[in-house]
Amino acid sequence: MESLIGLVNRIQRACTVLGDHGGADGALPTLWEALPSVAVVGGQSSGKSSVLESIVGRDFLPRGSGIVTRRPLVLQLHKTEEGQQEYAEFLHLPNRKFTDFSLVRREIQDETDRITGSGRSKQISPIPIQLSIYSPNVVNLTLIDLPGLTKVAVEGQPESIVEDIENMVRSYVEKPNSIILAISPANQDIATSDAIKLSREVDPTGERTFGVLTKLDLMDKGTNALEVLEGRSYRLQFPWVGIVNRSQADINKNVDMIAARRNEREYFETSPDYSHLASKMGSEYLAKLLSKHLESVIRARIPSITSLINKTIEELEKEMDHLGRPVAADAGVSLAGGDRIYGVFDNQLPAALKKLPLDHGY
Ligand code: GDP
Ligand code: NA
Ligand code: MG
Repeated sequence: MESLIGLVNRIQRACTVLGDHGGADGALPTLWEALPSVAVVGGQSSGKSSVLESIVGRDFLPRGSGIVTRRPLVLQLHKTEEGQQEYAEFLHLPNRKFTDFSLVRREIQDETDRITGSGRSKQISPIPIQLSIYSPNVVNLTLIDLPGLTKVAVEGQPESIVEDIENMVRSYVEKPNSIILAISPANQDIATSDAIKLSREVDPTGERTFGVLTKLDLMDKGTNALEVLEGRSYRLQFPWVGIVNRSQADINKNVDMIAARRNEREYFETSPDYSHLASKMGSEYLAKLLSKHLESVIRARIPSITSLINKTIEELEKEMDHLGRPVAADAGVSLAGGDRIYGVFDNQLPAALKKLPLDHGY
């Protein structure tokens, strides 16, 4: 049987094709907004990309200084059977399987620039890029990478960018179905964490926030993060997870993700401060924890998701009745039925479907 997360992933892709990526303009809750997913939030350089790459076990995200993530990246992880070839696929490039993950990185960059422009001004856009990764080494999980929260605009950026980023990130994390992965670096005071500041605002009881503490290895000698990790500094409903990602030096030396995961495990197992917590630390544990939680949230939401789908289908059918039936014989608006269901409308696009990326083969 298809996993619940896999099913929700398919609905989410269909929504993106429809131009429904939540928040944007409508005041009504969209189907997209009803779908639970995990949004990654944190300040610039807090380790967001590193955590995502650790969870996936692959290098594939653009990196660099400044605002690298300028569009949300909806990352859908699909666990496949042992021995299967790993590959990635973008929703905007159907039929192209990426097995070289450095090309995935380049395509994320190119597709970011296609919408935001590649000039010096580095605009941001709320239109998500949707990427699926199929691999035996992942857990079923949907993560949304968001632009890093920042305090100052740098040269060439509009002054409003600080607020624009915060508003975009907030639009994702304020919806009650959003699970917040709040990333804070251990070498900064938790009281100054951008991630905690925002998550406290939208989730004051901490019932949908997972606190992640990165850079444990970079803390001053003689100090440790037990106050945070054991929930005494800032209490959340879920336990905090500590992470040790690759350092910049590791990345420069091309330390691969398998070695990085192994180093991380060793770090916790041998640390005098953290060995008693070792089984509940690290990126592999975090991935499993999130997958399990996401699945349970989805299960609890099935009734409301189903009723929203039915309502959406009804609305689409009403609109189609208005326009006459579609041309193709196998037509049928079955949101759960696959991702290429809209081609049949090519000649009579209802208003709701006008935003379709037709040039991408839909
Ligand atoms: P982002 O801007 O939040 O996406 O942060 P990145 O994941 O790009 O990380 C920023 C920098 O911090 C990179 O040079 C990483 O190698 C480094 N970094 C991230 N996490 C850790 C960590 O746990 N330990 C160490 N030593 N460096 C880290
Ligand atoms: Na932060
Ligand atoms: Mg990043």
